[in-house]
Amino acid sequence: MTPRLHVIVASTRPGRVGLPVAKWFHEAAVQHGSFDAHLVDLMDFALPVYDEPNHPKLRKYVHEHTRRWSASVDAADAYVFVTPEYNYGACPSLVNALDYVYTEWNYKACAFVSYGGISGGIRAVQMTKQIVTTQKMMPIFEAVVIPMVAQQLRDGVFSPNDLQRQASGELLTELSRWALALKPLRERVA
Ligand SMILES: Cc1cc2nc3c(=O)[nH]c(=O)nc-3n(C[C@H](O)[C@H](O)[C@H](O)COP(=O)(O)O)c2cc1C
Repeated sequence: MTPRLHVIVASTRPGRVGLPVAKWFHEAAVQHGSFDAHLVDLMDFALPVYDEPNHPKLRKYVHEHTRRWSASVDAADAYVFVTPEYNYGACPSLVNALDYVYTEWNYKACAFVSYGGISGGIRAVQMTKQIVTTQKMMPIFEAVVIPMVAQQLRDGVFSPNDLQRQASGELLTELSRWALALKPLRERVA
């Protein structure tokens, strides 16, 4: 079966650049054809700062927003996090969403599309990798990096350059390999 990919928009800021970038990447994933690709917007889940009384490993969720988020995360075989960098660090809305659930992330492959100023968001990615490995995700090396992202936006539409287009293809090919390779592990644990 074709693995299911969630392209997750990490920024929940009004006017965020993340949405047009994620729309481009989602379309690239659809065209690539290795995944059943879905755009998932964290804004739609309106997750408050983590407010569950129990450790997420227990899956004893008391809030409807957590149950909705859990079902979404559970449904995917792989993730691409489309993330900015805030203060040389990880995007707080993404860290919060990651913290909310645990087993739902386990044994899934993930990759990053990052953007920002001159760094292209790579410091945020490095910080986030530390978190996702604790959640037993497999973050792959291949990535799309977008420095000075504002220069590639016009009327709310993101236009990739050749490097980013090529990187997106390489990322999707490698991510699909990992998504399939990890499937037996997920099934065994389930
Ligand atoms: C609180 C805050 C901190 C930021 N820190 C960084 C930073 O450390 N590095 C960087 O490249 N851009 C930084 N920026 C600029 C962001 O890259 C830029 O605002 C980008 O559009 C944010 O992504 P978003 O629009 O999807 O939220 C920061 C922006 C904000 C609002």
